[in-house]
Amino acid sequence: MLKVQVIHGPNLNMLGLREPGIYGAQTLATIEAMLADEAVSLGVCLTFFQSNSEGALVDCIQGTLGQQDGIVINPGAYTHTSVAIRDAIAAVGLPTVEVHLSNIHKRESFRHHSYIAAVAVGQICGFGADSYRLGLHALVQHLGRQVSADS
Ligand code: DQA
Repeated sequence: MLKVQVIHGPNLNMLGLREPGIYGAQTLATIEAMLADEAVSLGVCLTFFQSNSEGALVDCIQGTLGQQDGIVINPGAYTHTSVAIRDAIAAVGLPTVEVHLSNIHKRESFRHHSYIAAVAVGQICGFGADSYRLGLHALVQHLGRQVSADS
């Protein structure tokens, strides 16, 4: 069974309360429950992690080495600032899909650049909570293609 680490960065623990006009009304618990359902139908095992701290996110990414097959990450505001998170993803070398609830390219210019995009398989943004679901599907398809290419 494929194993996927789902990582949420800072302030995503406040979903539901936080700027619902931008991020929607769903809480992180609801999003994780939806992903857990999706994982059952995809036959994937998910592990969830959220932190507001950059170092804890780096530790989580490092901990995926040898334990997980891929990563779905919403790095929150660290998307736009964190060389450390980018380097951690590059260091473990696991296929990673970057997701955002909002369309970061349609928002303030400081959100247009992602340090993560260059080390990710791809980026999905702008579909609300569905970005996570689409990101998980994209990662699972990518990992499936990798397995068939290796065999
Ligand atoms: C976000 C977009 C970021 O710019 C912002 O700082 C977040 C959430 C999103 O999911 O849309 O915290 O990653």
